[in-house]
Amino acid sequence: KKKLILDVDTGIDDAIGILLAVKSEELDLIGITTGCGNVSLEAAAVNTCKMLDLINAPSIPVVKGSAAPLKRQPHFEHKVHGTDGIGGALQGVTSEREITPGDASSFMIEKVMERPGEVSIVCTGPLTNLAKAIQQQPAIADHVKEVIYMGGAINGIGNVTPVAEFNTFADPEAASIVLEAGIPNLTQVGLDVTKQALLTEKHIKAITEPALHDFVKQSTATYRKAFYEQNGIWACAMHDPLAIGVLIDSTLVKKTACSVAVETSSTFCDGMTVWDRQGKWGKPANVQVCMEVEAERFLSLLVVVLNRS
Ligand code: BDR
Ligand code: CA
Repeated sequence: KKKLILDVDTGIDDAIGILLAVKSEELDLIGITTGCGNVSLEAAAVNTCKMLDLINAPSIPVVKGSAAPLKRQPHFEHKVHGTDGIGGALQGVTSEREITPGDASSFMIEKVMERPGEVSIVCTGPLTNLAKAIQQQPAIADHVKEVIYMGGAINGIGNVTPVAEFNTFADPEAASIVLEAGIPNLTQVGLDVTKQALLTEKHIKAITEPALHDFVKQSTATYRKAFYEQNGIWACAMHDPLAIGVLIDSTLVKKTACSVAVETSSTFCDGMTVWDRQGKWGKPANVQVCMEVEAERFLSLLVVVLNRS
């Protein structure tokens, strides 16, 4: 089993990603670290605890990280994810789970350095916690088995600004640190592929485990309605679950080794991932970027894993 630390800012798709990571037989989820992004650090931690309760996973530690991006003010996404971050799906539910003491970046460093070459990190929120871990202990770049982050858009088509994806926009300085850290096995799962991983009515119906079916249906309702109004299909993109899917089965995507940088000081382009496809910078590739995805195969995997007893 692959040992995984999942770093989240628990909005709707992070929440579904947590279900996938806990239930996957290929993964050993050794801890969840939370940050701020879609919602505040506090709300992300609460939502994470609620998800682990829903799925009856009492022993997975939840460790809180940064309450704000490295240099910027938080940029929440309540319009997409609802006031609570999970579309109001578990309102009225409270979690008694205790947050594990310590902070996210120290947890990452401790676990990676304890077992060099064995621990993978998947980030599905802004990259603040991982960037802080790299700043505190640069050697984790060499000792982490693999880092996969949901973020960026190599085709330059963003979802927050015309050119920037939410996670790289929310903390571009952090994304830049991660891209510059020299992590040998770094993968970007950006909007280029995640926008194709569309969860529709058909998939939701196929989730037969009652509690998970209800959660996915309720949490995604507003999100799917907005997509329907724009595109005529009841669907929502499984951005974050796809990053976990790529760890479970890397053959779901086709990757290209690219030299990528994140814009951090521009009026119009902050948070944009810039790919030097012509080699103008003369820099070697620093990240494997997912260019194509077998979306339907991924969505089937998601449904099968969620239905596992
Ligand atoms: C990313 O931003 C958030 O809204 C999602 O949870 C995902 O991590 C997509 O751009
Ligand atoms: Ca997210």
